[in-house]
Amino acid sequence: MSKKFYITTPIFYANASLHLGHAYVTVLADIIARYHRWKGEETYFLSGVDEHGIKNLRSAEASGRGVQNYFDSRSAEYRALYDSVLSSYDQFIRTTDQKLHWPAAQAIWRKLEEAGDIYKGTYEGLYCVGCETFKQEKDLVNGMCSDHNTLPERLVQENYFFKLSKYTDRIKSALESGELTILPPERKNEIVSLVSEGLEDVSFSRPKKDLAWGVPVPGDESHVMYVWCDALVNYISALGYGSRDDALFKKFWPADLHVLGKDILRFHAAIWPGMLLSAGLPLPKAILAHGLILSGGKKMSKSIGNTVDPNAIMAEYGVDAFRFYLSHEINPFEDGDFTEEKFKEVYNAYLANGIGNLTARVMKMAESYLPEPVAPSASVGIEVVREYEAFMDKYQIHLA
Ligand code: MSP
Repeated sequence: MSKKFYITTPIFYANASLHLGHAYVTVLADIIARYHRWKGEETYFLSGVDEHGIKNLRSAEASGRGVQNYFDSRSAEYRALYDSVLSSYDQFIRTTDQKLHWPAAQAIWRKLEEAGDIYKGTYEGLYCVGCETFKQEKDLVNGMCSDHNTLPERLVQENYFFKLSKYTDRIKSALESGELTILPPERKNEIVSLVSEGLEDVSFSRPKKDLAWGVPVPGDESHVMYVWCDALVNYISALGYGSRDDALFKKFWPADLHVLGKDILRFHAAIWPGMLLSAGLPLPKAILAHGLILSGGKKMSKSIGNTVDPNAIMAEYGVDAFRFYLSHEINPFEDGDFTEEKFKEVYNAYLANGIGNLTARVMKMAESYLPEPVAPSASVGIEVVREYEAFMDKYQIHLA
């Protein structure tokens, strides 16, 4: 039987305007998925959209288009982006999918409850809607969220909590031993030291009267699940976990690789393993936490207003040049800058002057000097492929 490879991208907030950062993670995961398919592994590649939470609902309401309409059209735009960057995803999951996603989110919730890991409590704290997470004073810069440059809102709520603290030691040992591998090593060290400080329990629901948009908490219709609680479940809901047809889940879980930005690593390397351990499910094997695409030295994001539209770049230079830039110029383990000037330089240097001129000259010489077609040198080919594989296996896509 051939080896299987299950790879995922994060699911994007449906309200965000698509920018180069979103296209980047999609292209990166696609390159890795194609590599595993090429090696003959049975590969399953998942992408999708995250449609719940406060910021999604606020944008939908402000659109005046009706909430469901809004999410249908936004998710279609995301899908169109995945198609235009030539992503070879096998499935596109939406968290508003009540047939596939909701039963899985509710099944996991019940598992957590059965394990004694859900309890009711009151939470008072600062909430950043941009991050969809509670913040502590120490996370803020001059009282503001440094990622979004916004003041967090004060929330006082009676919520259900998930006993993440109970899994601190187990998660720490999984990270340290490599049972759950985190790449690159710097990110692993950061997350291990965060977990070593001790994980706190997480507020896992919102009262429906404050947020009537999310997966209902089973057994208590007056609450909906916290957006990250339902979003993380997409990695298994898509495979049919909690549904009658869970053949894909049986075949592909645990994930071989979750690809995501370093800004959302702690949700994936702390909360998600905690949920899986509580539910008695195997942990994903590895997480690749890539760097961020900066523009003018700051994380490209809608709230900062420094985004670059991937569709505009592709319309002018073509999808191959676009994918070439993202894969060749950006080391996945580090932050990478994008400006149109730099893009043009790279385009001219490598593609127009480099590969373009080389091809033209080779063709010209072949016409002038080679009367018969000749076979390419097999030994050079094999060497190149080996080198390529060695880089790909270490996710050094920019070198591969
Ligand atoms: N919805 C959550 C993820 C839930 S996964 C269970 C979310 N969505 S997001 O739309 O804000 O971000 C999605 C992905 O885009 C993340 O991996 C994030 O790192 C990536 N990027 C967003 N801006 C980025 C850059 N400027 N550069 C590179 N990737 C960035 O978080």
